[in-house]
Amino acid sequence: MNIAIAIDGPAGAGKSTIAKMAAKELSFIYVDTGALYRTIGLCAKRNNIGSKDAEKILEMLKGIKVELAFNDKNEQIVLLNGEDVSSLIRTPEISMYASDVSAIPEVRAFLLDLQRNMAKTNNIIMDGRDIGTVVLPDAKVKIFLTASPEVRAKRRYDELIEKGMEVKYEDILSDVITRDYNDSHRETAPLKPADDSVIVDTSGLDLQQSVEKLISIMKERM
Ligand code: DC
Repeated sequence: MNIAIAIDGPAGAGKSTIAKMAAKELSFIYVDTGALYRTIGLCAKRNNIGSKDAEKILEMLKGIKVELAFNDKNEQIVLLNGEDVSSLIRTPEISMYASDVSAIPEVRAFLLDLQRNMAKTNNIIMDGRDIGTVVLPDAKVKIFLTASPEVRAKRRYDELIEKGMEVKYEDILSDVITRDYNDSHRETAPLKPADDSVIVDTSGLDLQQSVEKLISIMKERM
């Protein structure tokens, strides 16, 4: 029986960085489900389809294949019709596209089996918005990771600046607030803590402290 750990929370709470480090420590596979929604967003953009145009997006889904794979460093890559789009999906524009397309119930249904199948064959730490509530309701450990919008925006800003992107802190903060609102107010699978999750606020913690805290919760509950 494989073990699943669900980590949910808003954008920029540090889910991916922390989950990746915890997965390494526990020798689990790390799965970033946001990459899947981002890939659908990228595909819509490439096809000049509006991010809220559900009808055209559903038509588009009929002709595309989204897959998760792992490179030789065991890092996740995401394939759109066989093309590795892993780095193309990491822009602020695609973040907003992803948030919009993720509110379409059929998009969520389209990605559900893919996510569940990953958990059937591996010990995984999966991060997203609805992993503990919808995708893996039986996950052994559920963590809801959060931090204040300002702290999350600052972290995202630093990350993008380090990648050489030209961004403004105020724009990132406003994106964070908009995405929080969208992600937690949509009708299907809104962002919210599962009843049996442990809520961890990382506002006052640095990366190392956050990782240690999560690993101790995981070990305690496994
Ligand atoms: O985690 P992220 O920032 O890469 O996610 C991008 C968007 O995808 C986010 O705004 C909401 C959506 N998402 C979702 O609805 N459900 C998930 N399990 C993961 C992401």
